[in-house]
Amino acid sequence: MFLKLNSAATVGLDCLPVEIEIDINRGQSKFFIVGLTDASIQEARSRIQPAIKNSGFDYPYNFRILVNLAPANRHKEGPLYDLAMAAGIVLIQKKIFPDLSDALIFGELSLDGQVKRVNGVLPLAMFAKENGYKRLFVPQENSREAALVKGIAVYPVKTLAELISNLTEKFSLIPESPTPLELITPDNATDMSVVKGQEFAKRALEIAASGGHNILMNGPPGSGKTLLAKTLPSILPALNPTEALEVTKIYSVSGTLAGKLLSERPFRSPHHTISNVALVGGGQYPRPGEISLAHRGVLFLDEFPEFPRAVLESLRQPLEDGVVTISRAQGSLNFPARFILVASQNPCPCGYYSDPDKECLCSASQILNYHKKISGPLLDRIDLHIEVPRISFNKLSDEAPSEPSEKIRARVEKARDRQRQRFLHSTIHTNSEMSNREITRYCQLDLDGKELIKNAVQKFNLSARGYHRILKLSRTIADLEGQENIQAPHLAEALQFRIKNS
Ligand SMILES: Nc1ncnc2c1ncn2[C@@H]1O[C@H](COP(=O)(O)OP(=O)(O)O)[C@@H](O)[C@H]1O
Ligand SMILES: [Mg+2]
Repeated sequence: MFLKLNSAATVGLDCLPVEIEIDINRGQSKFFIVGLTDASIQEARSRIQPAIKNSGFDYPYNFRILVNLAPANRHKEGPLYDLAMAAGIVLIQKKIFPDLSDALIFGELSLDGQVKRVNGVLPLAMFAKENGYKRLFVPQENSREAALVKGIAVYPVKTLAELISNLTEKFSLIPESPTPLELITPDNATDMSVVKGQEFAKRALEIAASGGHNILMNGPPGSGKTLLAKTLPSILPALNPTEALEVTKIYSVSGTLAGKLLSERPFRSPHHTISNVALVGGGQYPRPGEISLAHRGVLFLDEFPEFPRAVLESLRQPLEDGVVTISRAQGSLNFPARFILVASQNPCPCGYYSDPDKECLCSASQILNYHKKISGPLLDRIDLHIEVPRISFNKLSDEAPSEPSEKIRARVEKARDRQRQRFLHSTIHTNSEMSNREITRYCQLDLDGKELIKNAVQKFNLSARGYHRILKLSRTIADLEGQENIQAPHLAEALQFRIKNS
């Protein structure tokens, strides 16, 4: 007896169709799964048998069960096929063959027949919708995530028995109502008003938020670098629905969604012991890395020079392109990775170089080695380089409230609106993403400006990329002021943020 169910597999953020063919014939009691499967699919055999028995159904002993996951030339992984395979076996055993051509079933089984959450349900639900499926059976824990996709009935499934009864007799499961995408401004993020003083750093962060520019903070320990970085999400505009769906999709595939939907801009701060794969993504079955989990948000790399050099270098391509390309034997795939990089570093390994009060204990070569970790091409991709000095006790104990994030965010949103208008017919969102062609088009300078930048290029020996970054930064500063043309003062301010380490 034979039954076929439709299914799908995630490949990166995309999905491909998979067919589950089940054939059961009298013979020696055996259970095979074929079709280039990984260990977690092979182990499904040990889960399915007790799950079927413990759900009160007969298991076909003295039968030979063969499950084929087609196409046979594509690798498949993960426990998401457990539920469909078990349901197919039970249906054949019961000799009931309902029409399942309009349905997709996903879920991992526990031994007692309960259905557990799986990864990648949001892209799978999008696939189902695009391919004309009408019913989607997913673990209850994933159902809100799947119901973000409208126009398809999403059934939350708690147990195998529940699914079988719904497929065969009583249509007891009630479809999940569509999940509203609540978009909230990042109220959980630290408000900028808690930071005393540091006006220069705050201005730099405002520019970074407005134009999507990367920023490097240099300063002694305790000067507030980590605190400042944490305030950045609070001045970024709320995600729009398309962005929120994009980000949620990445978290869905990485398995870190844990039932919630992402409506706030991500803030990721991996430790410097992180591996290359964990940062940029990859692995045998590629998963998004921290840079993709920070997509449309902030990636904070504290103690920047402490990261292994190879790990830092792997940031170069994604910083330039906004996507990370992962190459494998079976072809390459992309994960989006458009984030604002906030990096912080101490002036030297001990942290007190150039400190007026404390003596630095590092040797000259130690300091050199510390900074050598970060290559020139990587520094070139960071538009804003700022010093964060330790502030005086008087300022720190100052009771006067600083400007709240809400006000700063309003200015940032205005600057972003101007960029939205500018890039209406292109694929980019912010000034930092401009290519050379767009820079030529949108960053025209007047005579004063041309003279100023000519001197700066000669004096500071700026690289071609450095030169372009200054132009982008001045574009953002002009946008914050609501100016159509870049003027000399905008360029002058941009240069202040660029000279260090250039
Ligand atoms: N400007 C500031 N206003 C308010 N608190 C500050 C400021 N600078 C530092 N702090 C406080 O000092 C502590 C150390 O700051 P932190 O951001 O961890 O420093 P760093 O990362 O530069 O070593 C934190 O508790 C922070 O809240
Ligand atoms: Mg810190």
